[in-house]
Amino acid sequence: MSASRSILLIIGGGIAAYKCLELIRRLKDRGISSRVILTKAGEQFVTPLSVSALAGERCFTDLFSLTDEADIGHIALSRSTDLLVVAPATADLIAKMATGQANDLATTALLATDKRVLIAPAMNPRMWEHAATRRNMAQLERDGVLVVGPNSGAMAERGENGPGRMAEPMEILAAIEQALSSQVPPRAIGFLGRLPGGSAAAKPLAGKRVLITSGPTHEPIDPVRFIANRSSGKQGHAIAAAAAAAGAQVTLVSGPVTVPDPAGLTTIHVESAREMLAAVEGALPADIAIFAAAVADWRVADAAPEKMKKDGGALPALSLVENPDILATVAALKTGRPAVVVGFAAETEHVVAHAQAKLARKGCDLIVANDVGGTGVMGGESNTVHLVSRDGVETWPTLPKTEVASRLVAHLAGLATP
Ligand SMILES: Cc1cc2nc3c(=O)[nH]c(=O)nc-3n(C[C@H](O)[C@H](O)[C@H](O)COP(=O)(O)O)c2cc1C
Repeated sequence: MSASRSILLIIGGGIAAYKCLELIRRLKDRGISSRVILTKAGEQFVTPLSVSALAGERCFTDLFSLTDEADIGHIALSRSTDLLVVAPATADLIAKMATGQANDLATTALLATDKRVLIAPAMNPRMWEHAATRRNMAQLERDGVLVVGPNSGAMAERGENGPGRMAEPMEILAAIEQALSSQVPPRAIGFLGRLPGGSAAAKPLAGKRVLITSGPTHEPIDPVRFIANRSSGKQGHAIAAAAAAAGAQVTLVSGPVTVPDPAGLTTIHVESAREMLAAVEGALPADIAIFAAAVADWRVADAAPEKMKKDGGALPALSLVENPDILATVAALKTGRPAVVVGFAAETEHVVAHAQAKLARKGCDLIVANDVGGTGVMGGESNTVHLVSRDGVETWPTLPKTEVASRLVAHLAGLATP
């Protein structure tokens, strides 16, 4: 591992700032050095002294500091690094980045840099879901800014729950390592990173329509009960976001999930497999269709119209019927079939062999197969996938789901390019 890797960490004014102390320590363990800019608001949450002690050099706070300018000018500070990381990326910093403001050291460095930028948003769920933040995030994604998180869950404020928790230090570390890694294919760097002037190469899916399904389906038993599965939608939603960042016009058909709708695309919410098929058919035509949703294979034949009662008599028997096969239906279309149809195979054994059989059975062009037998894949942050096509099998290392998404989109851009 090279000892010369370095990041410029910008710590914004959010409760999650304290997690950056852990992040700096972990980065050091991996041989990645950090220079730190602390915003004025950030100083309310962590002290320059504790940051400096951990980073091993003083941290920067002031744009108009003669000492700092004499030492390393603000422009050089923004460029003498491999990656800029903003954590916590407050609603305020995100807004300033989206509008190109430069009224303090942090935002000036962000505007002056020629390096890639990774942000870890953290804020109250209402702030995250606010139309202004949605717009700003869509702009940042178009600008090629990398994003890790936020996660969903309980917030520091009592009773607040939802998307907005900053990604954990280890998740941010994984995203940093990935961004710094030379393993990222050049095409992926093209749209994940900043290209000078946002050149056409930065948008390899510009002009393409991409349709993606994501999440589980819920199949009703009665008005209050349903059959579900453990799919979180994280992988499908990440692919949708990556496709939008690559310039595609994206429609995401999402089953019931708690992850937020990605910015910069159209999301259609559905519950059951039959609703998902109808939404997919309504969203066609598309150039690329990616079926990442974990669609229930079966539904209850006669869902009860009223809540079923436990009356001490015989146990209810659920009779199941097969759901429509969305992937096979679209792959078999005689007219209007997308040029590239991708299926997902979540398997617990013989992953590649099952995926090869599925590829042949469904008539699609590519299967992204993963082993969901262990804990942590369904609902987790990382994934180990095999790309199974008629040309062979490509196995990728374990990667954050966001990175799997970026690589997959880069791969598909190659296939879909006329
Ligand atoms: C106790 C407290 C916690 C805050 N936490 C957050 C937060 O998690 N995310 C956020 O976007 N803003 C948060 N804010 C508001 C920001 O600190 C405020 O918008 C500030 O101007 C951000 O400045 P900066 O983006 O330059 O760091 C918080 C404010 C207070 C008083």
